[in-house]
Amino acid sequence: MTRTAVFPGSFDPITNAHLDVIRRGAALFDQLVIGVLTNPRKTPTFSSAERVALIQAEVGDLGPSVLVEAFEGLTVDFAARHQAGFVIRGLRAISDFEAELQMAHTNRRLSSSVDTVFLMTSLEYGYVSSTLAKEIAALGGDVSAMVPPGVADALHTRVV
Ligand code: PNS
Repeated sequence: MTRTAVFPGSFDPITNAHLDVIRRGAALFDQLVIGVLTNPRKTPTFSSAERVALIQAEVGDLGPSVLVEAFEGLTVDFAARHQAGFVIRGLRAISDFEAELQMAHTNRRLSSSVDTVFLMTSLEYGYVSSTLAKEIAALGGDVSAMVPPGVADALHTRVV
């Protein structure tokens, strides 16, 4: 039996905290599908194609068991399309927990065949977020501890 998990998110852009969850999730499951949400009601900094490409550039070394795809709609439907029984989410701090718990319960109500697995983001990335990385890059600060070099370049080009 192949154990497949999806890791949905905005990834606008991917950070070292996300990558930490991806690497550890990839070790737990046979297949990990990273789902980049295309939300028609939001205008992201990077298009979904750009977000997918930025992630693909970072996860190539993990091999064919890690896929990256843009998706629209419900996470549980994305999981079903990939026959995934698990949704992975990272928890950086207790402040993440309330919203994540609500999402996990919601997804479970929407589909009883999907379980959420939380991974605690490694301590050194506990403060990292896409939003902060964008703010720091926009103000000319150093984001090298928060995002991989390719993403830092993309941020400095895009966020001015
Ligand atoms: O990176 P984010 O913004 O914290 O990710 C949030 C995400 C994409 C996981 C969440 O908004 C989501 O699952 N959106 C898809 C729509 C959906 O399934 N909503 C109901 C579950 S809360």
